[in-house]
Order: sequence, then structure tokens, then C-alpha cells
Amino acid sequence: MSNVQAPALGGPMLSGRSRIAGVIGWPVSHSRSPRLHGYWLRTYGIDGAYIPLPVKAEQFTAALRALPLLGFAGANVTVPHKEAALKVVDRSDSAARRIGAVNTIVVAPDGTLDGSNSDGFGFMENLRAGAPAWSPQAGPAVILGAGGAARAIAVALLDGGVPEIRIVNRTSDRANQLSKDIGGPFRVYGWADRASALGDAALLVNTTTLGMSGQPALELALDRLPTMAVVNDIVYSPLETMLLAAARTRGNPVVDGLGMLLHQARPGFAAWFGVAPVVTPELRRFVLETAG
Ligand code: ATR
Repeated sequence: MSNVQAPALGGPMLSGRSRIAGVIGWPVSHSRSPRLHGYWLRTYGIDGAYIPLPVKAEQFTAALRALPLLGFAGANVTVPHKEAALKVVDRSDSAARRIGAVNTIVVAPDGTLDGSNSDGFGFMENLRAGAPAWSPQAGPAVILGAGGAARAIAVALLDGGVPEIRIVNRTSDRANQLSKDIGGPFRVYGWADRASALGDAALLVNTTTLGMSGQPALELALDRLPTMAVVNDIVYSPLETMLLAAARTRGNPVVDGLGMLLHQARPGFAAWFGVAPVVTPELRRFVLETAG
């Protein structure tokens, strides 16, 4: 008889019945999702794992189709596969179709794939938590950028009842395409007119890469933005961007971008592991420990 003690572990060992999910991307090594889901798995004592799945574009369809064959409960999909995922899944929800991208896949009991997009949900839940006095109906929203994140946020704001969305983008074709694809009370502004787009706005969101560590600064005069307007940057590295610091200084309520990442993960976790997880200050700290 051995009296070797089991090592002190932060959670249960995997069993033959473990539920498995992961994040598919290329590259995927920078993703914080394994740490985020891993924290919840440990917190809730779940017999499961969430792993990084590095998959190149050429192999993406085959990899997705392999999920049910390997017994996966599902997966998150990240850059650069979110648009491709919408084409591969067997069913998609209306948000995913309007956004044009899938970030969460659930394997159904018959092995088919359900695709959804929780980025807009994550955005709204983050604002609800960080700026409880704000509501989409409060007034026009200004979105800087017209990429995938801007699309998800625009759909969520429209569904929430925002009266007007002003899309400000360097490449106006992309902003016009977004407005055409999604449809709604959009106004498109050129990048040079970004300061004038802020008049009487109730929300300003930066979805561009400007202000991110290693990227150029976001240069934006906030003078015309009402001080009641909520300012949100989906960049979370650094956590307090220059935009948020400038907005805070003039008295605007500010919400950082980390919460969007944390909240968008909730629906997938609940579907794969059967527990509705909670975003807590401890989780924020834990995920930030690796934030560069
Ligand atoms: P995501 O899909 O994650 O939202 P993306 O598609 O790469 O990311 O979009 C990045 C956004 O940052 C775009 O709106 C981009 O503007 P363009 O559509 O003109 O490319 C914006 N962006 C990046 N660098 C920029 C810069 N130097 N000045 C202004 N906008 C910039």
C-alpha cells in the first residue's frame, strides 16, 4: 500500500466522463479564455476542461466537424475563424447571422453544431454592470470602428432600442457596408469628423485597435461629448486606456473592456458545463494577472 499523498490541486481531476470544450483560433496562445474558463471550472468543482485549440484556416472546417467525433461539448471560435464558423455550423441564431460571425458553438446530442454569437451579450452585460444608470434608449451611440466587434455591438444596441448609431470609421466603405448589412438608424461619419459625431451622444465606444498596447494612440477631442455620456473602450490592454482616462477626468462615467470578454464567455460555459457562471472581482483579477 502506498501512502503517497495526492498533490494539492485547485480542482477535481479529470475523469472518463469529463466535459471538454476549448477555443479554436490561429494563433491562440494569447487567448485568455482557457484561464477564464479554467477559473470557473475550478470554482464550481466541475469535472471538465477548456483547452486552447490552434487550428489554421485550411483545417478549420475539418476541425469543427471533428468536435462531435471527439466528444467535445463545444467550443469558442476566435480570430480569424468567426466568419467562417457561421458558414460551417448547422444552425445559427439571429444575432450571429446579423453580425455575420459565430463565437460560440454547442454540439447537439445528434452531433450537429449550433452556432451563436455572445459578443453583443458580453458588451451589454458589461455596460449594465459598469454603468447601471445607462440604457440604450438614453440617446445616440457613437461606435468608433467598423470591424467584427463593432458589428456585434451595433446589433446589441439596436436590439436594446438605441435611437441612433453613429459609425465612425477610417475606411468609409466598411462603415457603409456595416450599416447596409445590419440595417437600422445608422449614420456614417468619416474619421476626420469623429469629434463632431460626439454631440448629444449618450454612449461612446471604441472598437478600433487604437490605444491598445503597441498600437498608435486614439486621438479624439471629447469637448462635444456630454459629460453624462458613458465611455467604453473594448481595448483592455491597457485596462485604463488614454480614452478612458481623458473621459474620467472630464467626469464621464467610464467602463473598461475586460468585462466584455468575461461576460461573453458566460453562455458558452453554461451550455457546455451546466452551470451559469458569475463574473466577480476575483475573476477579473485572476484573468488580469496575465494581461500584458
Ligand atoms: P475587430 O474585428 O476585432 O473589430 P478589425 O476588423 O481588425 O477588428 O477592426 C479594427 C478597427 O480598427 C477597424 O475599424 C479599423 O479601421 P479600418 O476599417 O479603416 O481598417 C480600425 N483601425 C485600425 N487602425 C486604425 C488607425 N490607425 N486609424 C483609424 N482606425 C483604425
